[in-house]
Amino acid sequence: MAVQYYVAASLDGFIADADGGIGWLTSFGFDEFREHYTAFLSGVGAIVMGATTYEHVLRGGSWPYAETPSWVVTSRHLDALPGADLRLSADPIAAVQDARDTAGDADVWVIGGGRVAAQIADLELLDELHLTLIPVVLGAGTPLLPLSRPTRPLALLRRTPFESGAIELVFSLHAAG
Ligand SMILES: NC(=O)c1ccc[n+]([C@@H]2O[C@H](COP(=O)([O-])OP(=O)(O)OC[C@H]3O[C@@H](n4cnc5c(N)ncnc54)[C@H](OP(=O)(O)O)[C@@H]3O)[C@@H](O)[C@H]2O)c1
Repeated sequence: MAVQYYVAASLDGFIADADGGIGWLTSFGFDEFREHYTAFLSGVGAIVMGATTYEHVLRGGSWPYAETPSWVVTSRHLDALPGADLRLSADPIAAVQDARDTAGDADVWVIGGGRVAAQIADLELLDELHLTLIPVVLGAGTPLLPLSRPTRPLALLRRTPFESGAIELVFSLHAAG
């Protein structure tokens, strides 16, 4: 079981552009990532995401994670889409701990955004970063992982290159050194 921040970012480290959009990501299509993503998702037993990410997913009109218990970090009351196994939490740390308990032997996917993932990583509750680097430079936007302090060098566990020039890098956040 691992708590994994599986995310796509521009080469300059943004997960959304300056307007909060991800058109730069979706313009790459999904075909080349599908098999890899499906394999990743099959290991996920619970999901944690911030409210902005949740609202972005909702704008897609359907809930793609119906089978998977999901925590949304929010200070508000948010409506759930029918079919979503959803819990609201004001605290990202409590959310990830509950998600871990629920996932059992399966993994926890921290979808993002960056601030939620960073708070989890700051308390050393994030085990792995699964980062798909998309070959675009945005110049500004939502940061990938705004930690309160720099990490030590991370250990690269594996890499997967894609035809488009995107590459997935999987790091352990428990690197020695
Ligand atoms: N490229 C990718 O793979 C990827 C992945 C995920 C997200 N995204 C994009 O990233 C953007 C969202 O990221 P984000 O970092 O701006 O927002 P986020 O983490 O998704 O959501 C932040 C919101 O969560 C709520 N919250 C409550 N307590 C919090 C706490 N302790 N810490 C942090 N948040 C708390 C707040 O909303 P309340 O007002 O409800 O309290 C806050 O505004 C979206 O544009 C999304 O599409 C991209």
